[in-house]
Amino acid sequence: MAAAQNIYDDDVFFNKYLGYPRSTDDISGMHEWDSYAQFFPKSMKGFKVVDLGCGTARFSRYAVNNGAEYVLALDISKNMINKAKSLTNENESKHIEYKLEDLTNLTLEKKTFNLVFSCFTFHYLSDIDRPFKQIYDSLVSGGSFIFMVEHPIYTASIKQPSFIKVDQDNIAWPVANYQNEGQRITNWVTEGVLKYHRKIETYINLCIKLGFQINGISEWGPTKQQLIDLPHLINEDQRPEILTISCIKP
Ligand SMILES: C[S@@+](CC[C@H](N)C(=O)[O-])C[C@H]1O[C@@H](n2cnc3c(N)ncnc32)[C@H](O)[C@@H]1O
Repeated sequence: MAAAQNIYDDDVFFNKYLGYPRSTDDISGMHEWDSYAQFFPKSMKGFKVVDLGCGTARFSRYAVNNGAEYVLALDISKNMINKAKSLTNENESKHIEYKLEDLTNLTLEKKTFNLVFSCFTFHYLSDIDRPFKQIYDSLVSGGSFIFMVEHPIYTASIKQPSFIKVDQDNIAWPVANYQNEGQRITNWVTEGVLKYHRKIETYINLCIKLGFQINGISEWGPTKQQLIDLPHLINEDQRPEILTISCIKP
């Protein structure tokens, strides 16, 4: 198995990443928030939660502020964990345990958690079979597993993906190499960032094989109102950038 790159501990990458409002906005301020939040349990009161690849821990803090009793927030990057701690207030810190961990070696306590959440992290992992099995085993019956990844239509391209011009009025998103899963070297934020392309069927079939019931999938695109308020989102109307899958452990 390939060693994790841990690009967020590269200071050039990290500082540029933090410069993007989209990376640091409050989680409920993200354009795509509604497409995630529709899957959240109505209340997180008393919940034990895991936030995998927590980054600045915006979801961990959200969970605590919505009643979660304990959040285990894991990330491979010291930079990210330090930043997350600096953003965590005194009350939140009573409920969040931060740990440095490479998710490819993930080990979680069994039948313990009500919700496992992960936003924009699994496409950095060379293997998801082990973490997904650990996640399934760690949930109590009825517990939820909700995750977002860069959409396979977005990650397929061998080269850094980008729109192409079709004619004077039209652009298109090229989908090539979709069937060829595996490592992609992208120039996102800085050059040489390693990600892993997987097909939609790979994510879904793995969840089903483990015993999850899939209760929703979302491929966020801007609403009509968002296109009026935020016209720069127009390209997001052309293809999905984010795949969200929501599962329940029966
Ligand atoms: C795009 S950021 C998302 C952060 C956060 N989930 C959010 O939505 O704001 C991806 C995060 O995944 C973490 N990550 C990448 N590979 C990892 C690995 N092998 N183990 C643990 N965390 C990893 C990175 O350090 C980074 O914090």
